[in-house]
Amino acid sequence: MNIHTSLFDEQILEVENLQLGRAGSRAFSLVNGVSFSLKAGKTLALVGESGSGKSLTALSVLRLLPEPSVRVLGGSIRFEGRDLLNLDGPNLRDVRGGGIAMIFQEPLSALNPVMSIGRQLREAVRAHEKLDRKATDRRVIELLELVRMPDPERVAREFPHRLSGGMRQRVLIAMAMAGRPRVLIADEPTTALDVTVQAEVLDTLRGLQDKFGLAILLITHDLGLVADYASDVAVMYAGRIVEHGPVHEVLGSPFHPYTRGLLNARPHADQVVCGGVRPRLTEITGSVPNPLDMPSGCPFWPRCPVATGACQLRRPNLSPVGVSHTAACFKAEALA
Ligand SMILES: Nc1ncnc2c1ncn2[C@@H]1O[C@H](COP(=O)(O)OP(=O)(O)OP(=O)(O)O)[C@@H](O)[C@H]1O
Ligand SMILES: [Mg+2]
Repeated sequence: MNIHTSLFDEQILEVENLQLGRAGSRAFSLVNGVSFSLKAGKTLALVGESGSGKSLTALSVLRLLPEPSVRVLGGSIRFEGRDLLNLDGPNLRDVRGGGIAMIFQEPLSALNPVMSIGRQLREAVRAHEKLDRKATDRRVIELLELVRMPDPERVAREFPHRLSGGMRQRVLIAMAMAGRPRVLIADEPTTALDVTVQAEVLDTLRGLQDKFGLAILLITHDLGLVADYASDVAVMYAGRIVEHGPVHEVLGSPFHPYTRGLLNARPHADQVVCGGVRPRLTEITGSVPNPLDMPSGCPFWPRCPVATGACQLRRPNLSPVGVSHTAACFKAEALA
């Protein structure tokens, strides 16, 4: 095996049996038994309707959960073999930004409105390395060039409100890259942007991935983006992964009735124009269950077109339905 292959074959991030929620007298569970891993140079998409636990899962990786209302109740998260859930302050700071960085849906709220882009980027650079003023400025321009920002010197002098949404998101990606992370978590990074700008931002991410072997966890509602940009996909429903596998398998031969529902609910090309923004997934009949009132058995049975009586009694486990492809449905268990 050559060095390149072994480097890109490594699991960088491994989440195992993650449980999030609250313990004690008013206990509830929001994320349950979520497991996935991420390799260098690959993109795992996390998809599912609103409230399925995607953002909480992402936040837990950076230890940014809104504690004490939501905590890690069980499981493990390992980054380059290190146990993230038991890291102390200084080591945690090293990992945040340095090892793992995150970008969010609304770039404007993540930028300081009264500071120039250059100054914000200089601060991001200084948080990770000690460079003199000149070298810091050079690194700022280099970061803006990395995200394919046109006219970086001019942009560095601008304030956030003077930039378009797509340019602001690129500034945030540049900031995220300041610490030379190995994992980038992108929580609906393009939902607020129009379709052509979405593609530019995601192409920028893909360029960084190819150049640095960045592993990306891409949270999105848009299955079109999953098909174009992800290598693997995990479909979440009510705090659990219900289908997981390579993109071509999961989207090409979806097994779980929920995944099939999502694919059917996908907006068609002629629906795309909606002020330039793609509409969110149209609903599958019924709604996501309230975490305080989960149905017994399979959480999807009340909305499932093929549920039987057995589905109301017992919850199906993720079982193999193809090469590296699993689904949590009794039909899958029967196949296995
Ligand atoms: N601070 C909190 N306290 C209690 N419950 C919370 C808190 N934050 C989120 N939740 C609940 O956890 C569940 C999962 O939320 P999460 O934000 O992870 O969903 P999501 O999949 O990211 O949804 P969306 O697609 O809308 O961003 C939801 O039921 C939500 O109401
Ligand atoms: Mg979210």
